[in-house]
Amino acid sequence: MIKREIEKRQIPDFFVNDGKKITNKEEWEEHRKRVLDLFLGEEYGYLPPKIEPSIRLEEQAINFAGKAKWESVFFTFKKGTKRRTVRAELILPRGKKSPVFLAIDFLKESPNKYLPVEEILDSGFGIFKLCYESVTRDNGDFENGLCALFEGGKEKYGKIAIWSYMASICMDYLMTREDVDSKNVAIIGHSRLGKTALLTSAIDNRFVLTCVNDSGCCGASVSRGKVDGNEKIYDIVKTFPYWFKREYALYAGKENTLPFDQHMLLSLVAPRNVIIGGAKEDVWADNEGQFLSCHLASYAWELYGKSGLIHDGKMPEVGEVLTAGELGFYLREGTHFLSRDDWKIYISKFREILDNEIRE
Ligand code: GCU
Repeated sequence: MIKREIEKRQIPDFFVNDGKKITNKEEWEEHRKRVLDLFLGEEYGYLPPKIEPSIRLEEQAINFAGKAKWESVFFTFKKGTKRRTVRAELILPRGKKSPVFLAIDFLKESPNKYLPVEEILDSGFGIFKLCYESVTRDNGDFENGLCALFEGGKEKYGKIAIWSYMASICMDYLMTREDVDSKNVAIIGHSRLGKTALLTSAIDNRFVLTCVNDSGCCGASVSRGKVDGNEKIYDIVKTFPYWFKREYALYAGKENTLPFDQHMLLSLVAPRNVIIGGAKEDVWADNEGQFLSCHLASYAWELYGKSGLIHDGKMPEVGEVLTAGELGFYLREGTHFLSRDDWKIYISKFREILDNEIRE
C-alpha cells in the first residue's frame, strides 16, 4: 500500500543531497541543517534572536489536595523602551524532582478540557503550561505581545515560529530548576499547537519526547497528494496567512514545487522520541498523510541505528497504537481533540522512556 501511495502522491526522496542519497548519520547531520533552513526560509520563517528575559515567580494557593506545588512564572522581555511579559504555569508533584510535560495550550485556565492536570500529576509528571496567546494573539497583528519586540514582523516569520520561540525559552527556564528533571521534558501540542510542538522540537533538540496531536496540514501530514476533505496549503494560508512566512502562500496549489515535504520536519526530530496522534474522524488533518509521513521520516531514525515507525505497511486500524519504535503513530476513535485517551498514550510512552533510562 505504502509504495503505491508514495507514487500516487508523487513524493520525491528528500534524503538526497546534490543527487546523492544520504546513507549515514554524519551525512544526515550535515544535511539536516539545510533541511531546517528550507523549512524556516520557505514556510515558518526564521525565529528572532533570543532575548534574555527576567523572571518573577508567584506561588498559587491551589495545590491539588496538597499533592502539587503551583507557581506562575512571569517572563519579562525588554527591547529598547518596550517590555512584554509572558506568563506560564509550573505545576509540579510536591517534593520530587519530576519529569515534565511542556504543554503549549489553547486555554488560559488550568486544568482545562485539553489539560487534565490532576491525572498528569498522579502519573508522576509535572506540567509547564504555556498558553499560546499569552505569547502573541492568534491573529495577523504583529505588534501584539512578544512580536512587538522583534524586527521584521510578518515579512520575516509567522506566528507558529513565535509560539515556538517561547516554548524554547520555557525549556531554557526548566533547565534552571532543581525540582525539574530537565533531561526528561516532553513537549506536547494539539492541532495548530501540534504544528508548533513539532517545529519546536525540530529546532531544539532538548525534548526527550514530542507529542504531536492532530497536527495535520503543515504539521505532521505530507502536503502532496491531498484529496477532497483534507486541508491543503491553499486552505490554510487563506484562513491563517499569519501562521507562516508570507511567501509560503506561493506554494498553494503548487505543492509539487516544494523543496521538501512535511515528513522532513519530522525527520529533524530523529533520533529522539516522537508520537504522531490522529483521530479517525479528523479527515481535515489527513491521517493517511500523517501515517505516510511517519513511514517516510523513519529513514532518519534508521540512520542512527534506531527504529522509526514499526508497522506492517498498512494504514493502522482505529485503536491500533504503533509506539514500539522511537517514532510512533496511532489512530483513535472520534474527532479532532486532545482527549484523555491521547494523554494516556503520551503518558505511557513517557513512562516507558523513563523506565528504559533506569534499566540502561
Ligand atoms: C483549523 C486549521 C488547522 C488547525 C486547526 C486547529 O482547522 O485549518 O490547520 O490545525 O484549525 O488548530 O484547531
